[in-house]
Amino acid sequence: MVHVPTRGDVPVRLGPSIQNVPDYGPSVMSRTAYTDPVQFELEREKVLNTTWLLAARSEQVRGAGDWISFESHGETIVIARQPDGSLAAFHNVCMHRGPSFVTEWQGCGATQFTCPYHGWTYDLTGKVKGVPERIDFDPEHLKGLRSPQVAVDEWGGWVWVNLAGPDRAPSLTSWIGDEILIDLGRYDMDDMVLLDVLEWDVPVSYKAVVDGFNEIYHTGELHHVGTEWTKSARDTSFWMVNDHNYMCFVPRHQHRDQLAHEWDHHKWAICHYVVFPNTVFNCNPEHIQVFNPIPIDVDRTRFLCWEIIYPGDDDDPRYQDYKARMQAHWDRLKVVVGEDIDIYQQLKRTKRSSAYTQNILNERECKIAHYHETMARMIRG
Ligand code: FES
Ligand SMILES: [Fe+2]
Repeated sequence: MVHVPTRGDVPVRLGPSIQNVPDYGPSVMSRTAYTDPVQFELEREKVLNTTWLLAARSEQVRGAGDWISFESHGETIVIARQPDGSLAAFHNVCMHRGPSFVTEWQGCGATQFTCPYHGWTYDLTGKVKGVPERIDFDPEHLKGLRSPQVAVDEWGGWVWVNLAGPDRAPSLTSWIGDEILIDLGRYDMDDMVLLDVLEWDVPVSYKAVVDGFNEIYHTGELHHVGTEWTKSARDTSFWMVNDHNYMCFVPRHQHRDQLAHEWDHHKWAICHYVVFPNTVFNCNPEHIQVFNPIPIDVDRTRFLCWEIIYPGDDDDPRYQDYKARMQAHWDRLKVVVGEDIDIYQQLKRTKRSSAYTQNILNERECKIAHYHETMARMIRG
């Protein structure tokens, strides 16, 4: 009825032939990664302005002239669907004297954008078209003027942007990497539809939020998952891929027997993919959550949580049943994410504490250690 992802010829990721925990070992790391404003400035320049960031669902900008705003780490961008079906993205900064010239968050059927200050107009690619009283300007100042371009691409039904621009950004697919493209590709996310998206303003670094999705150690205490789940989760396999991205596969205790029979992680496990620096796919066989902590400042984050499901015939009782189950799961998940949010509030209290100096990480928290090493490597250039 709806698509059921299966492993097919994708490599085995769980089972007796697999090394579950990479040879990384326990480690410690400084807490400054979460609170140092100097590091955050370097991150803005060397990481957040050079990597691919999740910006929207493709379905949010479906028709020609549909557009959506995206803001992250002090940058403000507009993404617009062109008449030929492609996307263009550009900084939402008026070239006259600097304000954002697109003032709303989202819209449909635009043919141009008009700055509310003096009325300069921009086409759907961000080029300056109209300048009232143009005669008063030096023509050289206006020649070929445009709002700087941002690289934009689509994969998995998602719109991604890269602030390095179209000439300098690596391709989106090379950034995600073959292993994740193939493994996550089994879910056919292009065909899925948005059920809901939630937003929280959280008082900690986006990296602290990503950390929470790079381990499952906290699920026993914080999320009360139960001993069977915890026991089964010790067989989770952790993968560092593509130098900067991560995967992990958590066996679902209810399906241990089926899993041992065919080691099909897509069918019987929770599959988890992190695309550096801040996009996390949490895949269940029937639906997917995407966790997307967007940096606002060194210790402030807009945390988006997306839920996508498979489409179907709303008049079909079987699809109605599927949708009701997905809604019920989503309602439970909102409670779970609320528990994570409570921890960010506790982390907020220790942001300036002299007693918080380092994290002590176990070997199953190795993705956290590696994530911050990747960040440091990129900052060093
Ligand atoms: S600042 Fe935009 S038109 Fe003047
Ligand atoms: Fe959690």
